[in-house]
This record gives sequence, C-alpha cells and structure tokens, in this order.
Amino acid sequence: MKGVILAGGLATRLRPLTLVTNKHLLPIYNKPMIYYPLEAMRKAGIKEVLLTTSGDHAGHFANLLKNGEDFQLKLYYAVQQNPKGGIADAIALAEEFAHDEPILVLLGDNIFNFNLLEARRKFEVKSKGGMVFGVHKDTESKQYGVIEVDKNGKVLSIEEKPEHPKSDIAQTGIYIYDHTVFACIKHLSPSGRGELEVTDLNNYYLRSGELTCEIIDWWIDAGTSYDELLNANSRVAAMVKEGKL
Ligand code: G1P
Repeated sequence: MKGVILAGGLATRLRPLTLVTNKHLLPIYNKPMIYYPLEAMRKAGIKEVLLTTSGDHAGHFANLLKNGEDFQLKLYYAVQQNPKGGIADAIALAEEFAHDEPILVLLGDNIFNFNLLEARRKFEVKSKGGMVFGVHKDTESKQYGVIEVDKNGKVLSIEEKPEHPKSDIAQTGIYIYDHTVFACIKHLSPSGRGELEVTDLNNYYLRSGELTCEIIDWWIDAGTSYDELLNANSRVAAMVKEGKL
C-alpha cells in the first residue's frame, strides 16, 4: 500500500495566517501540521508517500521535508494545478505513483492518534473496495460529511455537509482505496462548489457494495477554523505533556 497526503487548497478560512504560507506548515504545538500525517503514515507501515500541494508551496514542503528520510519514508511531490479542484481531483494525481497498489489517503490537516496499521491489514485481507474512517462528533455544525451506519457497522449512506444529518458520525479525512480508485474518479463531476468531492467518490464505492467504515476515537480537522486550529494545539499540547503523543 502506498500513501498520499493532500496538502493543497487555498485555506481561505484561516486567512491571514495562510496569506504567505500553506496551512499545513502552521504549527500544531511543537511541530508543523504536516508532521502529523507523515508520522501516521510511518506508524501504518507505509514506506512511500506522495504529497500533493500547489505549485506556490511545493518548494516550502521540499525545504522542510526533503526526501522524507527523517520520517523513514520515501517522499515524492505532485503539484495540483487547480487549488479548488477538490479532494478527489488531488487523489487523481497519484495514479502513476500508486502503480496499481491500494492507497492510504490522509488530508494533511487531520490530527489524530489512531494507529491505522490494523485497519490497513484488515483492508489488505480482501484488498478490494474502499474504507472510510468516521468519528462521533457534532455533525449539526455542517462542517463534515456524515456517515450513516446500521447496527452491524454497515455503511448505509454518506452525505456531504447535510442540512439534516442522519447520524453523529463525521467523515474524517482518512481513506483507503483499491487500485480502481482512479477509474472511479474519472466518473465524477464537479459538485455545487465546483469540486470533485471525496463524498461522491465514496458513494461510488458504496453503490458497488464495496465500502466499509471504521470508527476512530478522536480526531481534529485543524484546518476548518481558527477555533479548531487552537483546539488541535491545546489537545496535542496536553497529550504531549501527559506522554500520550
Ligand atoms: C472534506 C470532506 C468532508 C470531510 C472533511 C474532513 O471537507 O468533503 O466530507 O468530513 O473533509 O476533514 P472540506 O474540508 O473539503 O470542506
């Protein structure tokens, strides 16, 4: 399995913090934000990671992360030409890199402490379809995709920022896909906000009956707002001081 970290976008919700830099380079307590997904990849036993970002910021990441050696990873870079293309558009950049292997995709601003190794192994048993990761959260805030599961954990629906959420399970920015993901993305059309949505991609897998969901304990989307950025900083600081991170 190969890794893909998405670190593009315009981060307009965090301006002026992001006027001259990329949000994934902002600090989360004692490290740049991008360190967290890289460490999550290493803990999941991934050896090769593609980082996608905008042309403006690719050099910043290369200066900081170089070839990934400090994370015991081989790191590659890809430029997303259209920063408003959406998550699925950025994933499409990994087609050649993936070389028909499944991919673990992480949004670069997602902070969590869940070890993905077990889920990765579970996926690799059948190596088919997709896997999404949900977390119990206030989905009324309309910040997230919402995953509805039945009592056996089977995914029933995923809706992008719905008016009336069908559950309290937010879709995190952690996804595993088999090698057919690139063909699936080619079937997607831009949403109302002009993006190729990851929720549409996940629904594509759901319709083929090949989507499973894992629930993780805590997770923060640090790029959503100033408050979530602050929340991630405070939470990580407390965990570092308690020796839990
Ligand atoms: C994206 C996804 C959404 C998901 C969220 C997690 O939202 O579209 O389903 O819950 O990431 O971070 P966006 O940040 O693009 O609004």
